[in-house]
Amino acid sequence: MMNEQLERERIEHNEIYDRQQSWILAEAVTWERYYQHMSRPPHEGGTLYGLDHQIFLDYLQRTVKASADLRVLDYGCGTGALGLALAERGLRVSGFDLSDRGIEIAQRAAVQSGLAERCHFVVANAQDLPFADNSFDFVVAKAVLHHTIKYPGTERELYRILKPGGKAIFFEGAASNPLISLARRFTIEEELGDVPLTIEGIQTFAESFSNVNIRGYFFCYMLKRLGYYASDESLPDRGRNRLGKTALFRTLLRLALAIDRALVNEKRTAWAGRYLIELTK
Ligand SMILES: C[S@@+](CC[C@H](N)C(=O)[O-])C[C@H]1O[C@@H](n2cnc3c(N)ncnc32)[C@H](O)[C@@H]1O
Repeated sequence: MMNEQLERERIEHNEIYDRQQSWILAEAVTWERYYQHMSRPPHEGGTLYGLDHQIFLDYLQRTVKASADLRVLDYGCGTGALGLALAERGLRVSGFDLSDRGIEIAQRAAVQSGLAERCHFVVANAQDLPFADNSFDFVVAKAVLHHTIKYPGTERELYRILKPGGKAIFFEGAASNPLISLARRFTIEEELGDVPLTIEGIQTFAESFSNVNIRGYFFCYMLKRLGYYASDESLPDRGRNRLGKTALFRTLLRLALAIDRALVNEKRTAWAGRYLIELTK
């Protein structure tokens, strides 16, 4: 049963990576370019994830120092853009993913960007990682835990490959907020293999770690999900609506952001739309 699920997940992600025209094959990857591509918000012509990514990337920039002495793992790297961008900052990077298409693209982009010496991308399953014990100072993962958490043993593997004192940093959509769960039901169908991530679920996953820190971001701003498909052209047609293209929607998003800025308090994690999770071994 699990193997069937893994195989479906691999095929679905292969299809996504075949369909998307990744900019990383058209331009040399640098941290700066990656940041620009990822972090533009919808009201500035970017995607609905732009501001979410800003939070994550600013955090990584502060936390993962650009040093050739550090080994970083891009966990569930997809086409490897994050890992490549970190390698361009001087870090030694490995990346793995279940999707062989993703890894192929990552390897090609590494060569084209002149980063092949500092990067190593490999097809692997998070349940059985091809890395020695205590290998990494940092594990970084964008939008992966909500896929991998359902596979037994991934928490043990994550713990095993981190160095003592090493950190795993995940950036994920949150599912504890009842309003967001409601909006989800009307906007996004459950994607294959997505597990709604709750604080309790994360805490159970992270039981063996010495420290677990979950920060929450975005409360009102998650209403953007209502215009989700409309303004992200890279997504398939299903469920796309016109709301996201309207001036009213953009005004609402700005208002939601302003309310969040006034109200966001990292202690109200249960209401967050996004989690930034830091696990220390
Ligand atoms: C939403 S994508 C995120 C990809 C990448 N981190 C990014 O931000 O573009 C989730 C990724 O997790 C990978 N994945 C899911 N289950 C996995 C597993 N058991 N082992 C390795 N990778 C897995 C998928 O193939 C997919 O590339």
